[in-house]
Amino acid sequence: MKARVGIIGAGPAGLLLALLLHRSGIDSFVVERRSRAHCESRVRAGVLEQGTVDTLTAAGVGERMLAEGHVHHGIELRFGGRGHRIAFEDLVPGRAITVYGQQEVVKDLIAANLAAGVPIRFEADDVAVHDIDGDPFLTFGADRLDCDVIAGCDGFHGVSRASVPANRLRLFEKTYRFAWLGVLADVAPSASELVYSASERGFSLHSMRSDLVSRFYLQVPPDARAEDWTHEAIWAELKARHETVPGFTLATGPIREVDVAVMRSFVVEPMRFGRLFLAGDAAHIVPPTGAKGLNLAVADVRVLAAALGEYCRTGSEAGLDAYSATCLRRVWRVQHFSSWMTSLLHRFGDGDGGFDRRIQRARLEGVVRSRAQATVLAENYVGLPYEDA
Ligand code: FAD
Ligand code: DHB
Repeated sequence: MKARVGIIGAGPAGLLLALLLHRSGIDSFVVERRSRAHCESRVRAGVLEQGTVDTLTAAGVGERMLAEGHVHHGIELRFGGRGHRIAFEDLVPGRAITVYGQQEVVKDLIAANLAAGVPIRFEADDVAVHDIDGDPFLTFGADRLDCDVIAGCDGFHGVSRASVPANRLRLFEKTYRFAWLGVLADVAPSASELVYSASERGFSLHSMRSDLVSRFYLQVPPDARAEDWTHEAIWAELKARHETVPGFTLATGPIREVDVAVMRSFVVEPMRFGRLFLAGDAAHIVPPTGAKGLNLAVADVRVLAAALGEYCRTGSEAGLDAYSATCLRRVWRVQHFSSWMTSLLHRFGDGDGGFDRRIQRARLEGVVRSRAQATVLAENYVGLPYEDA
């Protein structure tokens, strides 16, 4: 088999790339290790930047997102017994976020690709990358796909980055002393906007998926296991960490799903190796506090799709040559924001007699009392402008 672009991974990055290439008349072939049902049911991120919404809409997959997603014009930072709203409409006028589950984005992208005739091979076994410095090809099962370019969109644990010789890449990594317990519950949200709560018991986040479904996260020890948390214990902890302001009661309901997300900051440099281009989580991971992982994957794919479009139209490799440096400028700014949000809101140890905790509190006070600092948070949260815009 042949395609101009062989794409590994049917997550948001691979699927959006396939669709954008199709819209530019470039054929691709997507190979995915898991089943379609599995890809469509993975509960992960939920906050889309304005630019992500605009990109998906321009690609022709905006209809359900615009109808069912919820536009939010602010978030709350809760600490010290008070809630403080970061008001996007005031600080970054005209920019907002949309709350719409990642698995809904994935469903929309799979449907659009299949409707357009883009081939997606689900449940592909033993995907392997070959000859990235010559005539690249992929093998999977008994099949072989020859292509001009391979896009490694197969996430942090994928095969594409792993197939690059260690002496050609540089890894930057930071792990955290905590994880997030994610909870999806059939209960109406208790707040109209996301609440980031820096409580004395640890960080907690109240997010939502719809008028009837809420999404929560709890800071937990790094070795926490979902099965060790009873639903009663989860609600008790969520209440303790959120009911810290007068008059706020957290509504409870049946819990549908509990998962644990590892907290990690990770970047590989460069993001291109010969004819292999990495995009999304295959190239970088951010801790989820800033809600940036999915949005950063979309930003990479915009750059890669434009560069491949130029290459296929004109033969020029200028865009492909600039791909890695262009993406990494945004990647590191988003890494900075994500680690900044993480250090601002989580509970770290008190090994220094409480000094760092007081500094952290001072930082929080600074963010909510200084318009300049609140604007920095808002600008990053709604999404930095694209370089290619
Ligand atoms: P992925 O979504 O990981 O897609 C990669 C695809 O490649 C998958 O479908 C995978 O099955 C496939 N694949 C992997 N290996 C192979 C192989 N060898 N061969 C073929 N296919 C392969 N971000 C937030 O902003 N907020 C959150 O709350 C949040 N929670 C998360 C929870 C978890 C458990 C994880 C893992 C991530 C979370 N993220 C969150 C991050 C966000 O979901 C990712 O940044 C986003 O999914 C990146 O998209 P991607 O397409 O690059 O990678
Ligand atoms: C969600 C996830 C995040 O990481 C975040 O910062 C905000 C919201 C969510 O899944 O809804």
